[in-house]
Amino acid sequence: MNDAYQQLLEATIQHLEDLKAHGTRFVSVTPELVSQLAAARKAPLRQASIPAAPAESKVREPGSQAKAGVARESLLALPGEVSTATSKPALAPEVKAAAFAELRQRALICRKCEHLASSRKNVVFGVGNIHADLMFVGEAPGADEDTQGEPFVGRAGELLTKIIEATGLKRSGVYIANILKCRPDTPGQTSGNRKPTPEEMQTCIPFLHEQIDLIRPKVLVGLGGTAIEGLLGKTAGIMRLRGNWQMYRGIPLMPTFHPAYVLRNQALSVKRQVWEDMLKVMEKLEMSISEKQRNFFLKAGN
Ligand code: URA
Repeated sequence: MNDAYQQLLEATIQHLEDLKAHGTRFVSVTPELVSQLAAARKAPLRQASIPAAPAESKVREPGSQAKAGVARESLLALPGEVSTATSKPALAPEVKAAAFAELRQRALICRKCEHLASSRKNVVFGVGNIHADLMFVGEAPGADEDTQGEPFVGRAGELLTKIIEATGLKRSGVYIANILKCRPDTPGQTSGNRKPTPEEMQTCIPFLHEQIDLIRPKVLVGLGGTAIEGLLGKTAGIMRLRGNWQMYRGIPLMPTFHPAYVLRNQALSVKRQVWEDMLKVMEKLEMSISEKQRNFFLKAGN
């Protein structure tokens, strides 16, 4: 079996396991595919490559797929092993890009929430660098995002872009996505947004889980209470959680205020808190922090 085929096969297995982990119980496949998979399963290669030591504990060169690690996880799920977003071997960049494109395609045609599918202009899947170390998660697209098909392009988005740039990063260097990929509908209203319902969040969240599993950012930033609720499944409240590291399946997650909240609440103390959270994120990512950055909001009276 050649390397490209092997990688695709492993990516497929990993992808199916991700779907299963996130609640998918059935996928449609052709009878031809079933027989090809059955043939591949009988091949002795993967069994033979199971390592004695856990593959996850080894440091890997980027792009060097630990084939044995995939095989071990796929075939021998050991009791008590916890699956985390980073416990699977990283995919080679081209395999990751292909898996991401396939995921995007599935999201773009999703009609699980028929009311949102019929009111949306666009599915707002996500934007940015799929190899980013830093990923931002927001709530749901608003009217501007729905029109343009890109998250955080309205006023809140402009502020988010400023925050990202203040760290020295570019918007295109991070990844930005939302809990919900469709704009929550507001029947009978000509303007305004609404919070996603728990059912909508539950239905859509598998897409975000898969995005995170593929991107494998080193740090996540959750923008606002809904993002944190969606990621952690808890409603402890953003006021209490912000600034305090949480964990999302092995990835450090920094909860901070949503940029729309910062826009509504012009108090400098709120801006300063968001910036303090971003300084923590920069430290976690071992980014260099200038004196100017460190002291942004430390002027007297702030
Ligand atoms: N608010 C969000 O949470 N997400 C967007 O994409 C835009 C505004």
